[in-house]
Amino acid sequence: MTNILITGSLGQVGSELIDYLSASFVGKIYATDIREESTLKPNSKVSYEVLDVRNMESVENILDEKNIHEVYHLASILSAKGEQDPYMAYNVNLTGTINILNACVTEDVKKVFIPSTIGVYGPEVDKANAPIRHNSIPTTMYGITKFTSEMLFQYYHNKYGLDVRSLRYPGLLSYKVAPTAGTTDYAVSMIREAASGNSYECYLERNTKLPMLYMPDAMQATLRLMTSPEEAIQIRTSYNVMGFSFSPGELEEMLKEFNPDFTVTYKPDFRQKIADSWPYSIDIQDAVNDWNFKPEFNLRDTVSDMIKNFKCQLI
Ligand SMILES: NC(=O)c1ccc[n+]([C@@H]2O[C@H](COP(=O)([O-])OP(=O)(O)OC[C@H]3O[C@@H](n4cnc5c(N)ncnc54)[C@H](O)[C@@H]3O)[C@@H](O)[C@H]2O)c1
Repeated sequence: MTNILITGSLGQVGSELIDYLSASFVGKIYATDIREESTLKPNSKVSYEVLDVRNMESVENILDEKNIHEVYHLASILSAKGEQDPYMAYNVNLTGTINILNACVTEDVKKVFIPSTIGVYGPEVDKANAPIRHNSIPTTMYGITKFTSEMLFQYYHNKYGLDVRSLRYPGLLSYKVAPTAGTTDYAVSMIREAASGNSYECYLERNTKLPMLYMPDAMQATLRLMTSPEEAIQIRTSYNVMGFSFSPGELEEMLKEFNPDFTVTYKPDFRQKIADSWPYSIDIQDAVNDWNFKPEFNLRDTVSDMIKNFKCQLI
């Protein structure tokens, strides 16, 4: 029996991860978030609690009271929202993360998953196949907090032996829960509008290429990382993972194959600067070598599956 705690569980990743975890683990799942009301669908293995990760005492109490063995720490303020409120992003992303790491040590939690992001790279990084170890300094508050968090993962592993595991997710594509706070969110919105027969106004330039991953592959990668033997995990900062790269213009062209009348206008806003600081592909070789990362969906399969599911939601 493994008791699992998820923070930030009502977000884009948490809402989907819960289904994968409840299908693969025997035990209880404590889904938490700062929001009062749960938006999760009923599941007998899952109970919902309010938890603000900035509050150390609350974090320690829940780990102790629920006898938690594994933590999936997803509570975060993402890139676009982080630039609108950098102070909050600092507090949630850094104070929240050190609270989780510290409480996991004091409450004897065995294993922790904390996602990182391609936002840890800065504008000086090689844009193609960016290496896992890099010296580029991120320029967003999101990137600064996630880059520092990666150092903390390694520190807590080296100093306390805490089994912290992490993936640098690229933009995640999903038709189930709409993303609302990131820079790569345009892709989900553009696919949804094409499926609905609408036009779309894009907040990034036509040629801005970024790395992406379809949510089922992101979930499989997360489970594969977390169930791999401890000795397989060679990287204690964060592993790069991605499926494919594309620009808004390339996505528009592909969507026209599904809906020939689809049109996109381009009106870049503050998120363009964030996207310009990120690489358009990242080196995934360590994930492939260490725990057999193997994404199954290419861009065409992803778009086709998302269009089909968005159309079902319209009926
Ligand atoms: N979605 C992506 O494309 C993407 C890409 C790269 C990395 N990630 C990482 O994956 C993780 C999950 O991202 P997501 O897309 O689900 O984000 P999200 O914004 O959809 O969800 C984050 C959740 O955290 C909650 N939250 C905010 N402040 C909190 C606090 N103080 N205490 C507890 N909960 C709080 C929010 O209510 C929200 O439900 C994050 O670490 C993020 O950096 C996501």
